[in-house]
Amino acid sequence: MLQRPRRNRKSEVIRQMVQETHVSAANLIFPLFIVEGNNQKTEVASMSGIFRYSIDNLLREVESCMKLGLNSFDLFPNISEELKDKYATESHREEGLYLRAIREVKNNFPEACVVTDVAMDPYSSDGHDGIVENGEILNDETLEVLGRMALAQAYAGADIIAPSDMMDGRVGYIRRTLDDAGFKHVSIMSYSAKYASAFYGPFRDALNSAPKFGDKKSYQMNPANQREALIEARLDEAEGADFLMVKPALAYLDVIKLIKDNTELPVAAYNVSGEYAMLKAAVQKGWLNEQRSVTEVLTSIRRAGATAILTYHAKEVLENKWL
Ligand code: PBG
Repeated sequence: MLQRPRRNRKSEVIRQMVQETHVSAANLIFPLFIVEGNNQKTEVASMSGIFRYSIDNLLREVESCMKLGLNSFDLFPNISEELKDKYATESHREEGLYLRAIREVKNNFPEACVVTDVAMDPYSSDGHDGIVENGEILNDETLEVLGRMALAQAYAGADIIAPSDMMDGRVGYIRRTLDDAGFKHVSIMSYSAKYASAFYGPFRDALNSAPKFGDKKSYQMNPANQREALIEARLDEAEGADFLMVKPALAYLDVIKLIKDNTELPVAAYNVSGEYAMLKAAVQKGWLNEQRSVTEVLTSIRRAGATAILTYHAKEVLENKWL
């Protein structure tokens, strides 16, 4: 035999020398859940190790992450039911929980990168990402709400605005809205290929944001489709997106690769709540080795082509020095 691939695997030093893919703290974005109140820190039942923080504790959490070299955060609000309405007005109320949280994080940690979520569902009495009329999701009317929300987040100090709603035309609409108000430097990370996935269940528990009726299949993508992701990616790029995201990550590694091969923009992937919950549950049962399975998951998402990874594992991999 002339070729013996095992020669390049024969020692730890050589294995590391030929390693093709690495994950570093710089690639990670940590999603954080926010709740009203003081000194609150409540665990999400389906996401062991993940908490909803009141703003004071959120600041402590951000600080402890930054000490570990974890500097990017994606914030999501848990809004009390009585503040929700049909038009998600709480999403752009200046004294609302979310905008206060963004301001506080940026005031205290100006060097942190704050990613903010644009979608109506946490604030919507219907639990949908768009305005609902007679059971239908209204696309163009929703854009106006998304624009106001994005603008309010930019004023609050957002570094990257991440629309997760999947309405048509929203990236262009948000880009124009931001530019017209002078926020030319604020980036857009678009959830380009966001699938109607079963793996968002624990996130909806965390925010209490599940749809009150029906499902999200008229706006989120069919898990069976790959080519359609290219249409979404191409549109978002043309409309001014700075990052294209694929979500979920693990069951969609082919989509990450496909988009990566068809754009020069950085690709992001969201390692979602259900992916986290499933791994944690198996670890708790003693069925999986945590360090090895978590690092394998993150490395595989990078290998598929994601530059940035949104993951609930972000802090633990750094705390435990697993990278
Ligand atoms: C909704 C939104 C969802 C997630 C991020 N933004 C869920 C949904 O579409 O219902 C899911 C994230 C996760 O599961 O970790 N705009």
